[in-house]
Amino acid sequence: MLILGIESSCDETGAAIVADGRIIHSNVVASQASIHEQYGGVVPEVASRHQLSAILPVLETALAEAGATWSDLDGIAVTYGPGLAGSLLVGLTSAKALALARNLPLIGINHLEAHIYANWLRTNDTSASPSTAIAAADGDHQPGDPVFPLLALVISGAHTELVFIPHHGRYELLGQTRDDAAGEAFDKVARILGLGYPGGPAIERAALQRDASIPHAYTMPRAWLPGTYDFSFSGLKTAVLHMAQGAQVGATADGANRYMREGAAAASQGGISVPNLAAAFQESVVDVLATKTLRAAQELGVRQVVLAGGVAANQPLRARLAADLAPLGIALRYPPIAFCTDNAAMIAAAAYFHLRLGERSGFDLDVRPGLQLPFAAVGS
Ligand code: KG4
Ligand code: ZN
Repeated sequence: MLILGIESSCDETGAAIVADGRIIHSNVVASQASIHEQYGGVVPEVASRHQLSAILPVLETALAEAGATWSDLDGIAVTYGPGLAGSLLVGLTSAKALALARNLPLIGINHLEAHIYANWLRTNDTSASPSTAIAAADGDHQPGDPVFPLLALVISGAHTELVFIPHHGRYELLGQTRDDAAGEAFDKVARILGLGYPGGPAIERAALQRDASIPHAYTMPRAWLPGTYDFSFSGLKTAVLHMAQGAQVGATADGANRYMREGAAAASQGGISVPNLAAAFQESVVDVLATKTLRAAQELGVRQVVLAGGVAANQPLRARLAADLAPLGIALRYPPIAFCTDNAAMIAAAAYFHLRLGERSGFDLDVRPGLQLPFAAVGS
């Protein structure tokens, strides 16, 4: 089954052609990151305008790179939420028009579910430790696929959720953030420290330049919220803010700070080191995410944990979780970096598992900016 996936929920415009939810024939992503960088975050009106100018070239390139024609396709899949309304509309309207014109099935896809299904994509990247577990009878299991029951840590720009997935399509929410999402915390702290946008990669890069001779220069708070699988990152963000304000580290009127102009070597201001502060922040986020994920994996007895969403690109998080889970015989899986952040291949991957069950969307499908994963009640 050959599916065209379309993704336009935020500031990336993506189109991809994927066979059977796994084999990538093409994957095209046009990013606006350099445009939004000057504002320190995504400006919705600017994002939707650029979605509009990017969508047709991106679609044409995806077809050309796959060597596919419209008649080769079995369906068109598109993100309908969550995301920015104006951006989502560009992808959804294009998908509807194409499905109608080509008489192809249309399927609306939940962007968060798609982040999870990025783990089904076959890539050359050795992202997963091989699992010897036997597949559950989920109806469509191929060697190399994630094995149910799964625990998913969904960590994107706006969501942080620990989710138990016993089989395709069932999502049981174990815990979620009570304030900022993990990615949001990375973005806000990067902005406080004047490190640029998107914040996650900027913090990860800055942390690599920390002065290891002072390993625990900064002790950052961790919100453990005992007895729950919930998260909270706003206190941590405020702690960084207070330290940075005290040392006048943040962005200046010209939009850049001394760290950006002169590099890490010159970043010690008022006795504070931006790289060390970035590293301490990252360590706190990683510690809480990894500790809670490990505990949930043990309690639920899963054999595999999957990471989903942009923050899954974070190398220290991947390394910490893999090291924590391995002694328990639990495999950690995550997509290659390009498939952790927004892309259309994951939309086509998720769509396959819906389309093969005969699911379709009507042409009255509308965008759902606040869409959540379709959580089932635990125990129901
Ligand atoms: O999934 P995604 O691309 O978009 C949403 O669906 O939100 O996630 C974007 C988020 C941003 O907050 C970005 O800073 C974060 O993922 N991110 C990272 C890394 N790469 C992207 N966070 C930490 N480390 C990274 N390497
Ligand atoms: Zn995303």
